[in-house]
Amino acid sequence: MQAYRAALLSFDDDGSARYESDGLLVVGPDASGRKVIRASGSYAALAGNYPGVRVTEFPGRILAPGFIDLHVHFPQTDVIGSPAEGLLPWLEDYTFPHEARFADQAYAVAMAGVFLDELLRNGVTTALAFCTSHPHSVDALLEESERRGMRTIAGKVLQDRHSPEGVRDETQQSLVDTEALIRRWQGRGRLGYAITPRFAPSCTEAQLRGAGELAARYPDVWIQSHVAENQDEIRWVRELFPQSRSYVSVYGDFGLLRERAIYAHCIHIDDEDRALLRDTGAAAAVSPTSNLFLGSGFFDYAGARHVGLRYGLASDVGGGTSFSPFHTMLAAYYVGREGQTKPGVSLGPQHLWWQHTAGAARALGLEGVAGNLRPGCEADFVLLDPRATPLLARRTQQARNLDELLFAMIVLGDDRVVERVAVDGVITSKVPGPAA
Ligand code: GUN
Ligand code: ZN
Repeated sequence: MQAYRAALLSFDDDGSARYESDGLLVVGPDASGRKVIRASGSYAALAGNYPGVRVTEFPGRILAPGFIDLHVHFPQTDVIGSPAEGLLPWLEDYTFPHEARFADQAYAVAMAGVFLDELLRNGVTTALAFCTSHPHSVDALLEESERRGMRTIAGKVLQDRHSPEGVRDETQQSLVDTEALIRRWQGRGRLGYAITPRFAPSCTEAQLRGAGELAARYPDVWIQSHVAENQDEIRWVRELFPQSRSYVSVYGDFGLLRERAIYAHCIHIDDEDRALLRDTGAAAAVSPTSNLFLGSGFFDYAGARHVGLRYGLASDVGGGTSFSPFHTMLAAYYVGREGQTKPGVSLGPQHLWWQHTAGAARALGLEGVAGNLRPGCEADFVLLDPRATPLLARRTQQARNLDELLFAMIVLGDDRVVERVAVDGVITSKVPGPAA
């Protein structure tokens, strides 16, 4: 067992934050040998219960749950910052040509390392990730995640139409490949598989039907896709699937809405769609930097709250502009305030942080497993330095309460705030950047 003394940030079931300014986090194996958080709380109350356990002190630092990125594209690391008129030309001009490079397995393996380094530098310990349509891209990412002990959930993209040579797959083979990958990766250590239809326009009905059949046969497996991101995309879906009531219901019609199904964006939807997502147990991955960069629109937080739709935060790199959860939380704050085309709400800093940790875990069906520092959770956490930059030091020193402290970090923070990362109980110093 090991123990760490620092300030502690964790979350209650209602999403409010619990902060212990002088806390103790005790990490050790549970009955089955899994490395978990054995205790977390005030140092004064807990320290006496663990005589003989070495305590590492981190004065002035904050221990917080590792962040969860609810939707990210591993092969789009180098697509960040590619401007386009909107989603569809961005896919054609940058994303599909780039993803075609992953036909080369050695390239996919090299990029898996780059991607996971970037997640960890930014304090992200769990990701739900798209790979490419090439099955070996999943092996590349999950083998590298396994080597690092990370909890990663990933899937081979399904796209058997309206996709160029180089990324387009073949209907029957894509389903055979998906099932083989499920059998190889789902539940291996901390890894998981996600059935990954790219989006309805890139999949034939046969491919969507096959994906839905696999989703029914393997209920523990995740599902990930995109929905209602962009107006041109929505018009196209209406032409392709005239029999479905809405874009969201296309996925329902093919058996792709259920618990553990995560749909990126969910911007241009109505209350009936929200209720369908809610009632089936599916959740939204809110991707504010991507939606602002590609001009897609603004997630309707008031609508989600009103209907009870579950959601969490996501970078959506490379439509998204940053791996940093701080940047994503700040963008979500701006989006919540929008108020011109959607009702404006003010998202508090505790709720923003929850969306990227315990809230994202709940959306994934991993409540009590990931995204929190409560006893029983896996030992993935970050050590944050609230004085990482001169301005942040000034601002956080003047914080009068928890909300002000968290807000200062959300507004001014980035990867410099993340001093160390613990993955599966192993605490490392920061993943280094490229040699200067
Ligand atoms: N819709 C279909 N594919 C993609 C993608 O790669 N990124 C985003 N943001 N939307 C998509
Ligand atoms: Zn995406």
